[in-house]
Amino acid sequence: MSIETDAELQALRAAGRVVAEALRAMRRAVRPGVTTAELDRVGAKVFRRFGARSGPQLDYGFPGVTCISVNDEAVHGVPSGRRLRDGDLVKLDVTAELDGFYADACASVSVGRARADSVRLLATTRQAFENAVDVARAGMPLNAIGAVVEETVAASGHSVCNELMGHGIGRRIHEPPDVPNYYLAGVSHALTDGLVLTIEPIISAGTGAVRMGRDGWTVSTADGALAAHVEHTLVITRDRPLLLTV
Ligand code: CO
Repeated sequence: MSIETDAELQALRAAGRVVAEALRAMRRAVRPGVTTAELDRVGAKVFRRFGARSGPQLDYGFPGVTCISVNDEAVHGVPSGRRLRDGDLVKLDVTAELDGFYADACASVSVGRARADSVRLLATTRQAFENAVDVARAGMPLNAIGAVVEETVAASGHSVCNELMGHGIGRRIHEPPDVPNYYLAGVSHALTDGLVLTIEPIISAGTGAVRMGRDGWTVSTADGALAAHVEHTLVITRDRPLLLTV
């Protein structure tokens, strides 16, 4: 969506606050031995406190409140009895709907002692996110985001999962436009003031190819390499974007 009124901005900010609060609570609960279903319940409790609902459940019938993906799982992991182990890299991807407005964010967190390869991959992914935010201004072409993500990731020796993209958001989880994490010549139209979208590099330590799991939800790296994911929902302006989910 594109924000037209201050009331819309306030409603989106409120949805963004729920996401940020749920992520903070879930991060605090990450430790060796916790199950991904237990982490999901921590997020669900925050949603209930604010009267928010799960975006993926509402829009897609996702069998969890939040998406929790571990190690080679890149996105859309289904919360389960899986116990996290020391050194795992867990992605907490949270989308809340509040009063008809959606916000979406993802944090990648090491469990216990972080592995050196996770630390490097996460540093690349964070840098790609920051660099993308720096070019996300009204008047810039949409594909400037993908170009800078691709460039940052290539310099590190990691790979973009090209099939997984950012997106417009607001009144649904996924709205136009797609926001590829690589340079795509065809998406050269200018970003506009008030446009709401996610920036979300999803980066692999391997080739970047992904495959769908047998559960029909979990998307993992095809080669079993680690994946990291950093995401926020933001509003494009003439200056730095407004981050709604911090
Ligand atoms: Co997203």
